[in-house]
Amino acid sequence: MYNRLLHTHINEALHAGEIDMAGEDNMFFTRFIANATAIDALFRDLYGNQPRSPEYFEKLISLITRSYINRSAVLRQRDEEKEMKGNWFLSNEITGMSLYVDRFCGSIKGLEGKLEYFKKLRVNFLHLMPVFESPEGESDGGYAVSDFRKVDTRFGTLEDLQRLQQRMQQKGMYLMLDIVLNHTSHQHEWAIKARKGDKQYQQYFYMFDDRRLPDEYDRTMPEIFPESSPGNFTYNAEMKKWVMTVFHRYQWDLNYTNPEVFLSMLENIFFYANLGVDVLRIDAPAFIWKQLGTTCQNLPQAHTLLRLIKQCVQVAAPGMALLGEAIVAPKEIMKYFGTGLYTAKECDFAYNATHMALQWDALATADTRVMLAAQHEILQKPYGTSWITYTRCHDDIGLGYDDYMIRQAGFNPFEHRRFLKDYYSGNHSHTPAKGALFSVNPKTNDARISGSLASLCGLENAIIAKDETAIDYAIRRIILMQAHSFFIGGVPMIFYGDEAGYTNDYSYLNDPGKSYDNRWMHRPVIDWKKNKNIDKAGTTEQRIFSATQRLITLRRKIFAVGDYKNLTWLTPHNIHVAGYLRTFEDQKLYCLFNFLDKPSYVTWHAFKEHGAEPHVLFDHWQEKEYQVGYDHEYLVIEPYQFLLMEVK
Ligand code: GLC
Repeated sequence: MYNRLLHTHINEALHAGEIDMAGEDNMFFTRFIANATAIDALFRDLYGNQPRSPEYFEKLISLITRSYINRSAVLRQRDEEKEMKGNWFLSNEITGMSLYVDRFCGSIKGLEGKLEYFKKLRVNFLHLMPVFESPEGESDGGYAVSDFRKVDTRFGTLEDLQRLQQRMQQKGMYLMLDIVLNHTSHQHEWAIKARKGDKQYQQYFYMFDDRRLPDEYDRTMPEIFPESSPGNFTYNAEMKKWVMTVFHRYQWDLNYTNPEVFLSMLENIFFYANLGVDVLRIDAPAFIWKQLGTTCQNLPQAHTLLRLIKQCVQVAAPGMALLGEAIVAPKEIMKYFGTGLYTAKECDFAYNATHMALQWDALATADTRVMLAAQHEILQKPYGTSWITYTRCHDDIGLGYDDYMIRQAGFNPFEHRRFLKDYYSGNHSHTPAKGALFSVNPKTNDARISGSLASLCGLENAIIAKDETAIDYAIRRIILMQAHSFFIGGVPMIFYGDEAGYTNDYSYLNDPGKSYDNRWMHRPVIDWKKNKNIDKAGTTEQRIFSATQRLITLRRKIFAVGDYKNLTWLTPHNIHVAGYLRTFEDQKLYCLFNFLDKPSYVTWHAFKEHGAEPHVLFDHWQEKEYQVGYDHEYLVIEPYQFLLMEVK
């Protein structure tokens, strides 16, 4: 839908910015014209009814232009290389780690010294948990930002970050940072000005003089942290106003109906883009638009806003992919990849939160039926987009998949979830897990789960009991869970510490800035002396580290593991076993995972349902060859064993 007027308008703006439209900036100019109609339409959708809309649109065009002008030659070159590759991030060669800089190694400078560690593990993509300024004690792990441009002195300086980015880039690594889009800290300059009575900045947030509207909102808005931060509003005595605070009371929700908020935050996004961020994690995108009478989550305008951001980023910083951290119901997650005309034109990545939770479901129940019932939704992901796959992250595990999926597997949703919560919080007589319930809501009976990968898999209890068999089983569970998420498709994101089997860390209980939030139990402080054990044969650290390392190495060897809409689930011949097939050109990889603590049997027929019957399968994990048997014969899979079998 070409728009001549818009074209002329952009020409003029670029001319004023001394852009060489026919020469070296031609690709930028072409991208701008190609996306202009969409940018215009999306912008109008959100802000067209505002009297000063044309003026803001003008500002938007000049912001995009300026951001391109400020992009370094090196980054422009990298954009070009990524664009030539097509969807660079679908590759099987990327494996990430998410970490808190201070808890991992003290500082950003210190992280430079750890690049060899990542190389050893074969991790080439880092998600640094928020490093921008955030008030200590009221930081929500950095997700309450008081300055989007200033690195918190706890971690180092902006120059340190820039240097790290350059080092990483030289080593062929990728960087992910967060933009906390939904809210700022109450100590952010905008919030401080608002508190002092500045009307312009009060309009950056949702503020009310009395409880009338907050009460109305609260009627339909769920609570995110019902225990530590009940309700969605906080009273500010200085202003005598109620401020919308969906997360903690110190996180003030930004008001995106105000175009100035959008423009200011887009400018921050471009700031990160021009630092050389490869993937921008958009924190909590489900919450960015509010409307009275709704849950204020996943609203259509939130998607419009994300699409607008995506089209703008594509023009000025096309090498930066967007990850939408939407931890919502499966159907809703899918929408963050874009729908309709915007299919695959919204977020490039989403977290596969559904599958993550389903793996924990399968591990506790030794039954993969709920997992299977959810797949038809998950498989809707459009080509050209990808998942971040993971078993654990810094947040809790929410059992957010739909009731109908649980019912389809033959369980009662309420009882099923209760069992899972009991199992992982250690309230079940037969559980090896040691975790805790997070954000229990007595009104809805809802709760999520905290705990590290190792502790939830039984390692903590096994070590306390000095039970070698239990330790062995816990390690098997840990590797099974990692393998399943590494091969399902998408970029695996290891949570730091999990590669060395860190169990829960209870020291957060002594810190008043953290003790109210038990997610800190699974955010360890790395002890590098203990980490030396990764080189000591037979230690738990070494067993887990070397297995993780091998899994990553295998991923990088097998093209079919890339995310090209090339996943087919096998017919479930045995409810304890999850099985899927990954294909690429003529490569075929059968991945099977036994979630039972006993041997499971799978008929060889399972391998004959997808095209030519294979005769020989090579399991990359055990480096062992299997002859495919008759249909009445069985492949025996040991307790918590998995197989990565390539057709020979
Ligand atoms: C995201 C973060 C979480 C944080 C919340 C509020 O969900 O992952 O840690 O508490 O946003 O910013």
